[in-house]
Amino acid sequence: MEIIILPDADEVGRVAAAAIAHRVRRTPETVLGLATGSSPLGIYRQLADWVKQGSLDLRHTRAFALDEYVGIAADHPQSYASVIRREVVEPLSLDPDRVHVPDGRSSDIEAACAAYEDQIQRAGGIDLQILGIGANGHIGFNEPISSFASRTRIKTLTPKTRADNARFFSQPDHVPTHCVTQGLGTIADAKQLVLVAQGEHKADAIAAAVEGPLSSMCPGSLLQLHRHAIVVIDELAANGLRLSDYYRYTYANKPDWQRFE
Ligand code: GLP
Repeated sequence: MEIIILPDADEVGRVAAAAIAHRVRRTPETVLGLATGSSPLGIYRQLADWVKQGSLDLRHTRAFALDEYVGIAADHPQSYASVIRREVVEPLSLDPDRVHVPDGRSSDIEAACAAYEDQIQRAGGIDLQILGIGANGHIGFNEPISSFASRTRIKTLTPKTRADNARFFSQPDHVPTHCVTQGLGTIADAKQLVLVAQGEHKADAIAAAVEGPLSSMCPGSLLQLHRHAIVVIDELAANGLRLSDYYRYTYANKPDWQRFE
């Protein structure tokens, strides 16, 4: 695992975006995994800037969103289908036909989840999965004790996650109770993981994911099993890390051939 500690949230977005752009410039047909939430917004803003400047072209990428709420209309402004369209597809000029979001409205959720897994397989798997992390360590919507082997399925959101996400809804009880999410096993199959986190409220989750025991109590600890995981965080989110000096030293001495920015 590579831990990159940066001075502020803007730098987190810029450096994580550079890792993504590096891969897409080499392989324009890259299959991206898209996260929602506030953490990756800086990445999407930076990528959009490069697209506008003409130094990056994402039209040939394919993309799969991590998760979706169950039981809200696709055109609800807070459905992840709407969020992905507004925050990612439009500003980054992605081809909407190549961007997929799990179906949280199907009358047969299990079949819809299996179909989503098939779609990912048929696309050749996810090359680079963008991730945020919840304050309780969840990735995607894989809440604590999600199986490391899990695939796309329905989950019940914890009251904590519903409360955290209430800021996006006009009333707290409008936050859905259920979601569909790529499983931890689905996420683990991506060839590269890029997780971003900013702020003191993520420090415990980052410490648990990076340095804590491998445990489904912290789904983010899955990254410890992955062969190519990068964690890009600001100083505040790094506050709980015991080996932060080592991570800074490693990044400062990173060989040129390994650099992506
Ligand atoms: C959300 C999303 C996750 C996200 C996490 C953190 O509910 N399902 O993909 O990483 O919780 O959210 P935020 O980035 O807004 O802190």
